[in-house]
Amino acid sequence: MSASEYKRQAAEFAAEMVEDGMVVGLGTGSTAAFVVEALGRRHKEGLRFVAIPTSVATEKQALGLGIHLTTFGEHARVNLTIDGADEIQRGTLNLIKGLGGALLREKIVAASSDRLVIVADDTKLVDHLGMKTLLPVEVTSFGWEATARQIERLGGQASPRRNRDGAFFVSDGGNLILDCRFPVISDAKRLEQEIRSIVGVVESGLFVGMATDAIVAGGEGIAHLTV
Ligand code: 5RP
Repeated sequence: MSASEYKRQAAEFAAEMVEDGMVVGLGTGSTAAFVVEALGRRHKEGLRFVAIPTSVATEKQALGLGIHLTTFGEHARVNLTIDGADEIQRGTLNLIKGLGGALLREKIVAASSDRLVIVADDTKLVDHLGMKTLLPVEVTSFGWEATARQIERLGGQASPRRNRDGAFFVSDGGNLILDCRFPVISDAKRLEQEIRSIVGVVESGLFVGMATDAIVAGGEGIAHLTV
């Protein structure tokens, strides 16, 4: 089976965790899109829930499926958020997120969620964060070069993300993303605090102590990991 089929399997499994009456956080990316698709189906079958999307793309998909959207103005807490990730650390379920560019909204929704369920294919599982992917950091466009230099003082190489046409990638929040190459991250909590204390950083793609569950699908079947 392909990675995409494993993503769909994990997504279908997690979509069954949504119960009647819930406020649900909808993630961003190809795996989260399978979740939204499955929830669209469950909505048509009569499941009642309202959702907060983590990106413009997810909002469009959910609206197209007739899913009812809500806001933090109407609901202080989210019962369950289902989202993808770029890396999941075995054991801690600490994450790197943001290769899809939605890390700020994803983190705002995750921080208000009682439960954050991560869906992924098994290539995303790592022993240490930073083994496979760059760490995305969302920064203000003003002074991004100065912000990048401060990140480099922490040992990372920071490059602004660009679109295919060479223009800077701009997030839904109107900010830039610096993709940062760190040597393997041994203390994610400390690095997270150090990056967030830099002026000009809006948010980092390190999600430490936030995920409660991970649904990981691969050749050996579907695993439900918890912390
Ligand atoms: C977007 C994200 C995505 O969840 C992450 O990039 C995983 O994407 P995919 O499911 O397409 O592999 O963090 O900001």
